[in-house]
Amino acid sequence: MDSLKLLSSPKIFWHKSVVKKQEREIALGQKGCVIWLTGLSGSGKSTLACKLDHALLSRNKLSYVLDGDNLRHGLNKNLDFSTKDRAENIRRVGEVAKLFADAGLICIASFISPYRNDRNLCRELLPPGDFIEEVYLKVPLSICEKRDPKGLYKLARAGKIKGFTGIDDPYEEPLDCEITMGVENGTPDEMATTVITFLDRRGYLAPPITIK
Ligand code: ADX
Repeated sequence: MDSLKLLSSPKIFWHKSVVKKQEREIALGQKGCVIWLTGLSGSGKSTLACKLDHALLSRNKLSYVLDGDNLRHGLNKNLDFSTKDRAENIRRVGEVAKLFADAGLICIASFISPYRNDRNLCRELLPPGDFIEEVYLKVPLSICEKRDPKGLYKLARAGKIKGFTGIDDPYEEPLDCEITMGVENGTPDEMATTVITFLDRRGYLAPPITIK
């Protein structure tokens, strides 16, 4: 019965996996973790996420990108951009990222995630050491708006989209994130190298030595 742990509901039990996280990590030669990219729309999160994904693969490391726009096509397609639904969006992503990290993957979550509290809840959701990095792409609104890759800022300025982050909806900057990067920090490839160096130094690109 030790694989059954009683949860808050008396009728739902936790079924413990017979394969340990560390065993999966040894098979993959890395440690499962979550890198959380936050910042305004157009700040370069998706570009950095793709660069990171590719750079990790070229080192034989397995990662997966959870992207805001993409998840809103499926898992989160029933959510809008109200404060409440953005919180639910981030909560669901946090839960999925937690599973991916447990699977031994380097999970790259790329979401505006405008509210500090929602981001902090995700951090708390994950076991210590699994949520390893909050990367803030600190790019001024004026630059994001100039880039406007999807033409959404234009629509928001014209009043055709209500509650657009940075225009008429808030973005709460991280107060204590692990990495802050902006246009002055080089190309997306250089930024990806900075993140990978961080992962390497912290031992995430090598398997665990012992199994707990
Ligand atoms: S979050 O705020 O809930 O974290 P998420 O990262 O999933 O947002 O999705 C953001 C993407 O949705 C943006 O890159 C943009 O393309 C699109 N989008 C559509 N409407 C809005 C809006 N009102 N505010 C921000 N982004 C929007």
